[in-house]
Amino acid sequence: MKILGIRGSPRRGGNSDVLLEWFLSSGFSDAEILTPSQLHIQFCRGCRYCEAMGKCVIQDDMAVVVEKLLAADRVVVSTPVFFYGLPAPFKALVDRAQVLWARRYLFKENMKPKKGFLLAVGATRGERLFEGVVLTIKYFFDAFRCSYEGGLFFRGFDALASIRECHTCQEETRASGRFFLRGEDA
Ligand SMILES: Cc1cc2nc3c(=O)[nH]c(=O)nc-3n(C[C@H](O)[C@H](O)[C@H](O)COP(=O)(O)O)c2cc1C
Repeated sequence: MKILGIRGSPRRGGNSDVLLEWFLSSGFSDAEILTPSQLHIQFCRGCRYCEAMGKCVIQDDMAVVVEKLLAADRVVVSTPVFFYGLPAPFKALVDRAQVLWARRYLFKENMKPKKGFLLAVGATRGERLFEGVVLTIKYFFDAFRCSYEGGLFFRGFDALASIRECHTCQEETRASGRFFLRGEDA
């Protein structure tokens, strides 16, 4: 089973990195990790070339990302909330997934089914804190036939890796990881 993790934050060793580390720690150490902020992914130009041709007009690291998204059986996204949405480097990757949406829905490509899970963290505590992130990730997943299986959401963490002090967060995240990655067919 191919497991792909995506680190949404541009801050290394921060709260969302810790969450992903816990989630993937259930013995499935062969997970591959993508870090959008360390890749060369240009912004989507909205040119619609992909909708006409089934491929992107821009040549950069997104070509490899597309192959990894399509090959995965499980995709785990871990991200902080930035202004009620995704950090810009990760949002750039999501926008560039429009080529996958075009391949799936316009070119009727028969993609392998996958399962996706979301981990998200923010500093404040509002009830609607994660609504923007959840919607964006649900539709990102859908572009490459990845079903949204659920998420874990953590409020009130801001300082670097401060979530490490939350033992219930760790237990909950590890348990969810074990369940999600338990190895049955996609
Ligand atoms: C540019 C920026 C925007 C942010 N916007 C929000 C926000 O809208 N709501 C919120 O609760 N926290 C916000 N935060 C705080 C982060 O979500 C929080 O610090 C999180 O724990 C960072 O995760 P990380 O350590 O994985 O980067 C923002 C932080 C930054 C740097």
